[in-house]
Amino acid sequence: MKTRKLKDIEVSAVGMGCMAFSHGYGKIPPEQYSIEAIRNAYRHGCSFFDTAEVYSPNLSAIGHNELIVGKALEEVRDNVVIATKLMLHSVGFGRKVYDEVRRHLEGSLDRLRTDYVDIYYLHRMGGVPVEKVAEAMGRLIDDGLIRGWGLSQVDVDVIDAAQGVTPLTAIQNIYSMLERDCESRIIPYCIEHNIGFVPFSPIASGLLSGKITPQTQFERNDDVRNWVPQLSRRNIEGNMPIVEMLKDFADRKNATPAQISLSWMLHKYPNVVPIPGSKNKERIIENLNAADVELTDEEFKALDSELDKHKVYGHRGLGGF
Ligand SMILES: NC(=O)c1ccc[n+]([C@@H]2O[C@H](COP(=O)([O-])OP(=O)(O)OC[C@H]3O[C@@H](n4cnc5c(N)ncnc54)[C@H](OP(=O)(O)O)[C@@H]3O)[C@@H](O)[C@H]2O)c1
Repeated sequence: MKTRKLKDIEVSAVGMGCMAFSHGYGKIPPEQYSIEAIRNAYRHGCSFFDTAEVYSPNLSAIGHNELIVGKALEEVRDNVVIATKLMLHSVGFGRKVYDEVRRHLEGSLDRLRTDYVDIYYLHRMGGVPVEKVAEAMGRLIDDGLIRGWGLSQVDVDVIDAAQGVTPLTAIQNIYSMLERDCESRIIPYCIEHNIGFVPFSPIASGLLSGKITPQTQFERNDDVRNWVPQLSRRNIEGNMPIVEMLKDFADRKNATPAQISLSWMLHKYPNVVPIPGSKNKERIIENLNAADVELTDEEFKALDSELDKHKVYGHRGLGGF
C-alpha cells in the first residue's frame, strides 16, 4: 500500500481505527475475530493502528482495546506504527506531570506488549496546561519510550502552545466531508509546521458509506450513533443529498462511497492519514483499498465544488472518544 509521513514517521496512507472492537458501535466481536481482523489488515498492507487506553466496553474500564491490539500485532511489532492515547484530567497534589503521564504510558506499554509507542496522544485537554504535557512528552521521547506525540480534538492556539515546547508529530481531530471545520486553520497550520493530520470518524460514523438511512435503527448498547447529533433522523434526512451525490460519483468511479470519502481527503492534503473504523473484516479491507482509488485533479475539483454547494446538517458532537 502507498505510504505517507506523519512528520518523520512513515505509515500506510490509510490507517485503521481499532476502537469499535471494544466500544462505540454496539456489540463487540469475539476477541479472536478482532485479532484476526487486525492481522488481516496488516497482511493487506496496513501499518498504522489507532487505539486508546479508554477504549473498553461502555468506557467502564481501561485497556480492553489495547490488549487486543497488543495481542494482534506482537509478532510484527517492528513493522507497524501504533498510536495510543492517554486521558489526563488532572495531576494529583504534589505529583509531577511527567510522572503521571509516564504511569499511564507504562500501563499502555504493558497491554500493547511493546517497549515503545510510536505516537502518544493526549486524548482530550483536561485541567493540565498543554505546555506541561508537551514537556513531559519531550522527556518520554528522550527516554526512548515514545517516538512522537500528538493532541486530539484541539484548536490552533493549543497546538501552537504545545508546538513551541515539543514539536508535534500529529493532530487527531474529527474530519470528514460532513465535518470540515479543520480546513480553515488547523490543517493549514499543520502543513506549515510539518505536523501530520489524522482524521477520526472520517466516514462520518458510517453515514458517508451510503448504508445508513433515516430508518436505520442503531444498536441499544454502547452505540454512539444514538447520540451523535448528525445521525438524528432529521439530520440524516438533511444530509441525504450529499450521500446521494457521493453514491453517484462512486458508481461512476467504480468505487464505494466510503472509499471516495477517504480518497477525497487523501487527494486534498498531503499530510492527512485517515483512520476509518470498522469491526467488519471485509469493510476494513474496502476502506484500506481507498488508498488505491486515485482521483484526477478534475474529478477532485468537481467533487469538492459539488460538496461546497450543499448545506451540512448537524455535527458529530464533541463527546465520545
Ligand atoms: N480521538 C478521538 O477522540 C476519537 C474519537 C472517535 C474515534 N476515534 C478513532 O477514529 C477511528 C474511526 O472513527 P469512528 O469509528 O468513530 O468513525 P468512522 O470511521 O467514520 O465510522 C465508523 C462506522 O462506519 C461504519 N463503516 C466503516 N466503514 C464502512 C464501510 N466501508 N461501509 C459501511 N459502513 C462502514 C462502521 O460500521 P461497521 O463496524 O459495521 O463496519 C462504523 O459504524 C476509531 O476507531 C478510533 O480509533 C478517535
